[in-house]
Amino acid sequence: GSGLKIIGSGTAIADQSLTNQDLSNIVETSDEWIQSRTGMRQRYICSANENLASLGVKAGQKALAMAGLQPDDLDLIILATSTPDDLFGSAAQIQGGLGATRAFAFDVTAACSGFVVGLNVAAQFLRTGVYQRVLLVGGDVLSRWVDWSDRTTCVLFGDGAGAVVLQRQAQDNLLAFEMYTDGSGNGCLNLPYQAVPQPLTAGKTVAQGTYQPITMNGREVYRFAVAKVPEIIEKVLFKAELTTADLDWVILHQANQRIMDAVGDRLAIPLEKMISNVGNYGNTSAASIPLALDQAVREGKIKEGDLIALAGFGAGLTWAASVVRW
Ligand code: ACO
Repeated sequence: GSGLKIIGSGTAIADQSLTNQDLSNIVETSDEWIQSRTGMRQRYICSANENLASLGVKAGQKALAMAGLQPDDLDLIILATSTPDDLFGSAAQIQGGLGATRAFAFDVTAACSGFVVGLNVAAQFLRTGVYQRVLLVGGDVLSRWVDWSDRTTCVLFGDGAGAVVLQRQAQDNLLAFEMYTDGSGNGCLNLPYQAVPQPLTAGKTVAQGTYQPITMNGREVYRFAVAKVPEIIEKVLFKAELTTADLDWVILHQANQRIMDAVGDRLAIPLEKMISNVGNYGNTSAASIPLALDQAVREGKIKEGDLIALAGFGAGLTWAASVVRW
């Protein structure tokens, strides 16, 4: 057999906390509204002293330390992000920052599904034996792309990065995965480039514009998540010949406590098995699952041999799930 195992995890948090009280000084909102609709109390956002790559490097260093590996043990670095410091990709900046000289590095863009998609992509290289050790980083700096005058979105997001080290081994601890896209729902959640035609030369224009802040149909996204996430978890468990009763932990993308509660409810998974840290970090997009995972590992909740379902969902629309044994 040929498979893989997660052998280390680490995180990096942005340098400024932003409380609900702080937000109520920016837009017309309240701690009561935000907590009751989302479960969030605070989130962290980057000042100009941090960026995606600096967070990714720190998270990667911690994951390597837990794994007992050096940067040059890595064969591959996958960065799941939708907010690179450089549109040409930021994985190379993390590779350089870590000094992971042997590793090839590339970005994967799948918004809030990015970490789970990255895990499933990494698994292909490990299962085939092409690579032995992969660093997967999930990170986003959505604070750059939020309209800070739009109360319907600016209260939801925070910045951060989380990382895991994956190692090839005989036994496969990635028991199953499932991934879906529904492009017909693309308009629900966007960070769009808006082209502005500029005259270039006789009869020719160039479309140079700017990225526009995040737009979201919150109710549509909510409905999508509560319908599709329970379904994909059932599908991935079926594929692994398991049931919800076999799971020790469920880690969903930390979009909103109400979404997590509704999914747990539909699957009849006890609340104490649903790992949540959305209260502290808000929705950190591709970082949210590794942040919750690393915290649960370091708190001693997740133990060797535990069975964990991971599910990401978001813009695309995309949704993805994996079942892993720790
Ligand atoms: N403070 C105070 N009032 C607000 C705020 C705010 N921050 N935001 C919206 N409101 C108001 C609205 O203007 C509206 O007022 P109105 O009735 O006078 O028009 C009222 O509150 C209710 O608004 P709704 O949008 O219906 O509120 P809802 O209960 O649906 O909660 C929320 C909104 C939290 C966004 C919810 O729809 C949700 O969680 N959706 C999923 C969003 C999500 O998770 N997105 C990210 C997932 S994918 C990814 O991570 C990229």
